[in-house]
Amino acid sequence: MSLPQTPEVTTECAEANAQCAQELWDREYDQASTIPSSLRPAPAHALVELMKGSEFLAERALDLGCGNGRNSLFLANLGMTVTALDFSEKAVSLTLDRIKEAGLSESVQVMNQDLHEGVPACDESYDLVLDAYSLCHFTRDEDQRRMVHEIMRVLKPGGHFIKIHIDSSDLYYLERLHTRTPYGHISFDPANGLKKMHCSLKTYTEQIVPQLALVKAVNIVFPDNVRGELYDRSIFACLLQKV
Ligand SMILES: C[S@@+](CC[C@H](N)C(=O)[O-])C[C@H]1O[C@@H](n2cnc3c(N)ncnc32)[C@H](O)[C@@H]1O
Repeated sequence: MSLPQTPEVTTECAEANAQCAQELWDREYDQASTIPSSLRPAPAHALVELMKGSEFLAERALDLGCGNGRNSLFLANLGMTVTALDFSEKAVSLTLDRIKEAGLSESVQVMNQDLHEGVPACDESYDLVLDAYSLCHFTRDEDQRRMVHEIMRVLKPGGHFIKIHIDSSDLYYLERLHTRTPYGHISFDPANGLKKMHCSLKTYTEQIVPQLALVKAVNIVFPDNVRGELYDRSIFACLLQKV
């Protein structure tokens, strides 16, 4: 699908500042929808797969970059109290509408928050933290490190972290390679002006979050039609534990 009356977004804009990033995301939710998950109502397939047969108990969950709220709703339906957080006003409003419609306003608290300013939560306050395709948009190593520190801080001892990530062998983003990094690469998609960092499961668990123990992981490879072109897509999802 091409963007309605909007030219391709330049790298300069995407690199400009956080406000620009927020505007790009508002536009993604409001009119562009270049990312299939942006308006998809179903929870992330990889999240559903990971939660199947997982025996940990979680009362409080934090959904980092909740988007349209699809995963927050899924976790709330499993009985968790969820904090859904996003810096895009459009995403926040989509999530608020969805939880109201589902009658889950008591179980999901929605916050408009830029994660670059940290997670507004006390130490050791969550049993589960979810990052479904969100922190990949933190393309600077120091921002990744800061977020890992925040996740460790807000997780209770024994708490779990779920990471869902488009990995470094995904062909759609390899065709949009922008910069190689020690971890993998950064892509830039002119369709929406967004940059993403990509790495493998091994690099992620061994180099980026070595302080968390790997409990379970799935690798999902599938053919996908993106705006009329077929690509081999590749995603990893992992369940990690703060031990
Ligand atoms: C690809 S979407 C994924 C949304 C959702 N997790 C899902 O799986 O449908 C990435 C989300 O991260 C949010 N995001 C990106 N950078 C952010 C930041 N610095 N602070 C808060 N949210 C951010 C975007 O607004 C967007 O909703």
